[in-house]
Amino acid sequence: MKAVRLTELGGPDKLHVETVADPQPGPGQVCIKITRAAFNRRDVFITQGLYPAIELPRTLGSDGTGTVAALGTDVRDIAVGSAVVIDPQIGWSDRTFHASKGMSILGMPLDGTFAEYVTVPAENVYARPLPLSDDEAAAIPLAGLTAYRAVFTRGHIVKDDIVLITGVGGGVQTFVLLFAKHAGARTVVTSSSDAKLERARQMGADVTINSKTSAAWHKEVRSASDGGPTLVVDSSGGETLAKCLEVARPGARVVIYGGTGGDTTIRPYSIFWKHLDVLGTSMGSPTDFRGMLALFAAGLRPVIDRVYRMEQCAEAAQRLLIAEQFGKIVLAIA
Ligand SMILES: NC(=O)c1ccc[n+]([C@@H]2O[C@H](COP(=O)([O-])OP(=O)(O)OC[C@H]3O[C@@H](n4cnc5c(N)ncnc54)[C@H](OP(=O)(O)O)[C@@H]3O)[C@@H](O)[C@H]2O)c1
Repeated sequence: MKAVRLTELGGPDKLHVETVADPQPGPGQVCIKITRAAFNRRDVFITQGLYPAIELPRTLGSDGTGTVAALGTDVRDIAVGSAVVIDPQIGWSDRTFHASKGMSILGMPLDGTFAEYVTVPAENVYARPLPLSDDEAAAIPLAGLTAYRAVFTRGHIVKDDIVLITGVGGGVQTFVLLFAKHAGARTVVTSSSDAKLERARQMGADVTINSKTSAAWHKEVRSASDGGPTLVVDSSGGETLAKCLEVARPGARVVIYGGTGGDTTIRPYSIFWKHLDVLGTSMGSPTDFRGMLALFAAGLRPVIDRVYRMEQCAEAAQRLLIAEQFGKIVLAIA
């Protein structure tokens, strides 16, 4: 089969298509014929060597949709030929956390979805939400799951919340905006790009602020949110996170799932004096995944930035690297 492989580190240009052996489903596993996959920033980080425990060569990709091609022994209740999406988080039961022993993720350290076929445990295979196209179904697994857990399971969003979403152009953050609007909350979003802010307005963002042209963007956030957001969802890290803590309203929840911009210095005062709840989160449990799928089965639609052919994998990853995208970048496998 054809697969997008990484054999050496050095950035997105190191991604290339190779012919490798077809995977065979072992006991309890399902082999999926992938039609569409999608990028996450972790794929780019991996090409740069900015990810723990990298093992090469490897087929990248955590997100994928397709049809069931073959079943291993002991697999029941899944029909060959049915349309499915894959939960990329392997071995997470509802009683454990992501960091627990025995967990794994498709696309590193396991071979992933940027290939014509992938094998996964049967419990990671879910019926594809009917309203979604192939491109849309490929876009939802990892980013939709992370956003769902951040907004609902950890953030406990309510309709009276004023939600700050930083770097709204990101794959996960577009889902956060989608879910926050679905919950009926008011949203204040930031981005480094006016064009992305316009896209966010079209999605229903209530207040949009350019964080690149306005050094004091956090002060604009405060005045636009009646004294500060009650819920913050951030993956930028760095100075952005420090400003989020400064601007959050007393009693707010600050949910963090990433740190694209690196580390920062945090003033303890900004947390304890305001009784902030600072909440870490990573991907999600099977219950989170089912909750996320239910929202898309009921009619929500993810945001697709562009669709690339498999042979354009390096170009697609480059677009993510320089943060030009708004929403998810999809890879057409078949
Ligand atoms: N813990 C988890 O389970 C989990 C799951 C998914 C992602 N993550 C992490 O969350 C972060 C976002 O992931 P993603 O897949 O949504 O990424 P993405 O699609 O590449 O989005 C990143 C966005 O972050 C903003 N940004 C802020 N600071 C940036 C910087 N220094 N360089 C580039 N972009 C910056 C940009 O928004 P604007 O252009 O609008 O300003 C950019 O579009 C990554 O750090 C990723 O590793 C963690």
